[in-house]
Amino acid sequence: MDKERKLIIAGNWKTNKTVAEALDLVTALRRELADVKAVDVVVCPPFTALESVSKAILDSNIRLGAQNMSENGYGAFTGEIAAGMLKEFSVGYVILGHSERRQYQKETDALVAKKAAAAHAANLIPIVCVGETLMEREAAITEEVVETQLRGSLAGLTSDQVEKTVLAYEPVWAIGTGKTASSAQAQEVHAFIRKVLSSMHGDTTARRVRIQYGGSVKANNARELMGQPDVDGALVGGASLELRGFTDIVKNSI
Ligand code: PGA
Repeated sequence: MDKERKLIIAGNWKTNKTVAEALDLVTALRRELADVKAVDVVVCPPFTALESVSKAILDSNIRLGAQNMSENGYGAFTGEIAAGMLKEFSVGYVILGHSERRQYQKETDALVAKKAAAAHAANLIPIVCVGETLMEREAAITEEVVETQLRGSLAGLTSDQVEKTVLAYEPVWAIGTGKTASSAQAQEVHAFIRKVLSSMHGDTTARRVRIQYGGSVKANNARELMGQPDVDGALVGGASLELRGFTDIVKNSI
């Protein structure tokens, strides 16, 4: 597939896997995906498995991501993980503002923007998630919702930082439900996101930003989704927990 942006496919393991299970999976992924060069492959295990997974993917083509981080650095912030701590394990990416954190931890756009700035300051690439709920889609306010999230979650970043940021469009109604947005629905919102980015930071920046789709991505819908002009990868939850599920998504996307 010929695109000006390199595809990036990330597995979000959420709160799953013991260290032993994480090691099993990533060791097998390393073997199965050793020849993949056309796609950036990222795994995002829970914090507790970062160190082991980091060692297991040393000198491979698999990159490491975390699922969240603090907007603050080191200090008196009980229970938080600072960017510097992630860097110790060669983490390169961090998912920010996932809809589950927006829902359960009440994360706001303003907080996500602070985290994104802290990630960039530490040379971590944030994967910033946006997406509408089913009620919002049915009320036909998807674009307003996504635009507000985008402008709020990227507030204060420079064009250079935005260009390096990965965005993930994840309609909340498609996450873990088995309901995928059709490729046309995904493309429509991705094109809209690029239009908003362009009005915020100009065409060149907007053209360079990679926008992943997330929400029930599976091996059998990956090819069509990745074939859309503004879909530059996937953020995969459930299917990334199994070797075959994830490797087939990657292979079917090339
Ligand atoms: P899912 O999750 O693939 O299980 O729908 C996607 C996500 O939450 O990132």
